[in-house]
Amino acid sequence: MTMNAKTDCLTDRFGRTVNYLRMSVTDRCDFRCVYCMEEEMTFVPRAQLLTLEELAFIGRAFSEMGVRKIRITGGEPLVRRDIDKLLHDLGRLPGLAELVLTTNASQLESMAPVLRDVGVSRINISLDSLDPDRFKRITRVGDLNKVMRGIESARQTGFRRIKLNTVILKNRNHDEVVDLVRFAIDKGLDITFIEEMPLGFNNDHDRAEVYYSSDRIRVDLEQVFTLIPTTETTGGPARYFKLPDADTRIGFISPHSHNFCEDCNRVRLTCEGRLLLCLGQEHSMDLRHVVRAWPGDMEKLKQAIRDAMQIKPKGHEFDLKAKPLIFRHMNSTGG
Ligand code: GTP
Ligand code: 5AD
Ligand code: SF4
Repeated sequence: MTMNAKTDCLTDRFGRTVNYLRMSVTDRCDFRCVYCMEEEMTFVPRAQLLTLEELAFIGRAFSEMGVRKIRITGGEPLVRRDIDKLLHDLGRLPGLAELVLTTNASQLESMAPVLRDVGVSRINISLDSLDPDRFKRITRVGDLNKVMRGIESARQTGFRRIKLNTVILKNRNHDEVVDLVRFAIDKGLDITFIEEMPLGFNNDHDRAEVYYSSDRIRVDLEQVFTLIPTTETTGGPARYFKLPDADTRIGFISPHSHNFCEDCNRVRLTCEGRLLLCLGQEHSMDLRHVVRAWPGDMEKLKQAIRDAMQIKPKGHEFDLKAKPLIFRHMNSTGG
């Protein structure tokens, strides 16, 4: 069946509408965060990566099928050469309400103005500690000063509703939650606290041992702040709270303690062109094959995307105590 582009809408077997695409443009990164990667990683060879043109073509297909928000992820998306060209193309898609990006901020000092100019509307930044030594231990190689300069540059460039992402691990950074919220308030940022997800092998720590639930973080924060529940949403998985006397929103992304799969509105494209229907499952559709076998054939691509909706699973089955069921690391999906 051929559908009119305007009425096209992506719905899965459970009645969920997909309107959010997370597009990973590289699996490479200049950091090696302990919950995301191993110290030694093998990355996808360049020939297997989607080209920038292929990424733009796929982005256009999704936007014509009702996707309103595209988030560019990595690895670290700003290490992909000429990323600004792709952002420029995506930024001009008429159907898109938001072109957003998740970054570790290592390159943001120089890149923030470029991102604004090509039409990126919002930036999320990973930040797990305010202490340089701890920061280095968690990222294995990251330089906190550089990241702070990146955050400052994004603020000065005029980005609004910048969101910090903090993965909380017991005895690594759980005692910093109050300081991190104070930092967010001081800088006028939002912040979300994330429960670690078991993707890929992890020889740095036992994931069950370092689990620190969102509810515990909330209790810790409530010793100091008054958290007001809201129904606000950014279209992502966070549950948000407000503060009585600051604009900062505090969010919790709690795949273990507050499952959000029922409201899932997103799919992910890996940098190799695999459309993953769930972060915690392997169901996927090879879109690289489609765009290479039928170059420029928009209808073939759209049909493959429609077909993929039929295999979107109900949700993840993360289990921190078992061996990970998903062998890919987080850097291949960008979260
Ligand atoms: P907003 O647009 O600001 O809401 O961003 P977002 O939370 O959708 O994206 P971001 O890249 O900031 O991701 C924050 C965390 O949410 C990461 O750890 C992601 O892995 C996680 N996340 C996003 N979508 C999903 C999802 O569908 N399932 C699971 N389990 N985690 C997700
Ligand atoms: N569990 C939860 N969040 C993770 N991220 C990376 N790996 C994991 C994981 N295993 C987060 C990063 C980044 C976002 C895209 O995903 O902190 O902010
Ligand atoms: Fe890089 Fe992000 Fe993974 Fe850290 S979480 S290693 S910054 S991709």
